[in-house]
Parts: sequence; structure tokens; C-alpha cells
Amino acid sequence: MEDISLHILDVVENSVDAGARRIEILLAEDASADLLLLEIKDDGKGMDEETIRLVTDPFFTTKTVRRIGLGLPFLKQAAEECSGGFSISSEKGRGTTVSASFKRSHIDRKPLGDVGATMMVLIAGNPDIDFLFHYRRDDYDYKLDTREIRDELDGVPMNSPEVLKALRKDIDKGLGAEENQMEETHG
Ligand SMILES: Nc1ncnc2c1ncn2[C@@H]1O[C@H](COP(=O)(O)OP(=O)(O)OP(=O)(O)O)[C@@H](O)[C@H]1O
Ligand SMILES: [Mg+2]
Repeated sequence: MEDISLHILDVVENSVDAGARRIEILLAEDASADLLLLEIKDDGKGMDEETIRLVTDPFFTTKTVRRIGLGLPFLKQAAEECSGGFSISSEKGRGTTVSASFKRSHIDRKPLGDVGATMMVLIAGNPDIDFLFHYRRDDYDYKLDTREIRDELDGVPMNSPEVLKALRKDIDKGLGAEENQMEETHG
């Protein structure tokens, strides 16, 4: 996978498949700790311990159409290749949190990619799911919560073109605020 945003797409797709009603995505860049953290938390059906154990094995999937699930193993591999770590915590019936960390300056660390576009695709394709997108960069903090926006929309669908356009603009602004686009230098 070429960039972090494609991993986000992939892992969030699992949450959607798991019946999540709310999905929280945290992307945190910490320059002083030289760390990039990605955390995706859902309130879907969760996994039992056996599944958690098997889930990072590329030959495990509960999908019947295709026997090989690669989403989580790929993310794990990407993180580990960058002196990072990977973990899943999940409880059956309650939800799942997938975390991956990367050494931010690692030569193999993938660029963030088009996170704004990724969030758009997710929101457009799943208008009834609540998404929290949380981006942190050192002391800078940006949050977009579709639950709050939904209340203000007064019945206008989340995936109507005007709403999506406005959301996209807001996310891109949130991601781009302040200078520091260091992550793009080795992308
Ligand atoms: N958020 C989640 N909630 C519940 N179960 C999950 C979650 N994420 C993954 N799983 C379980 O782990 C399995 C493996 O996930 P993974 O993304 O690696 O592969 P996949 O979704 O089966 O296939 P692929 O992502 O390659 O299309 C899934 O089939 C599902 O059973
Ligand atoms: Mg998957």
C-alpha cells in the first residue's frame, strides 16, 4: 500500500463490515518523539481472543469470498518496517481499536497521502455512520465530528454534494494548518 491514507481506508472498511455506528480515527504526529500514530476505534461487533490472535496472520479471514485477509497484516508490516508497533484491542460485542505507530522520520515511513479524500470517500459511502476524525500535530489539534455536523444539517443528507464539499474543505484546512509539511519530503 502506497500511503497511510490507504491503510486508513482499509482498516475503517473492517469497522464498517463489523457494523460500527461510530468510528473514530486519530492521526497524531509528534515531532519531538519522532512518532506517527494511527488509531482506529469502532463500536462494531468486536472480535474474540482467537480472532485477535489470528487476525495479523495473512492467511486468516472470516470472509468467505476470499480466503486471504490482508488489511491488518499489511498495516502491521508497514509499522514494523518503520521501527513502530501494532496492536489490536477488541471485545466481542463492544468494539475494536487498531493502533499502529511509526518512527516518523524513518526512511520507509509512508507519506500520509490524501487523507482529506479518504475521509470524503468514507463519509460519502457511509452517510449513516458517525465519524470522528482527529488530527494532532505537536500542539496543534483538529477535530471533525460528523455527529455534531449532522445535528446542524437539519435533515440534509451527510453525503449531499454541498455537504461533502464543505467537509472536504474543512478537513484539508485542518490538515494543512500551520506550515510543517515535513512528512511529504520523503513520500
Ligand atoms: N474492526 C473489526 N471488527 C471486527 N472484526 C474485525 C475488525 N477488523 C478485522 N476484523 C476481523 O479480522 C479479519 C481480518 O481483517 P483484514 O482486514 O486483515 O482482512 P479482511 O477484511 O478479511 O480482508 P481484506 O481487508 O484483505 O479485504 C476480518 O475478516 C474480520 O473477521
Ligand atoms: Mg479488511
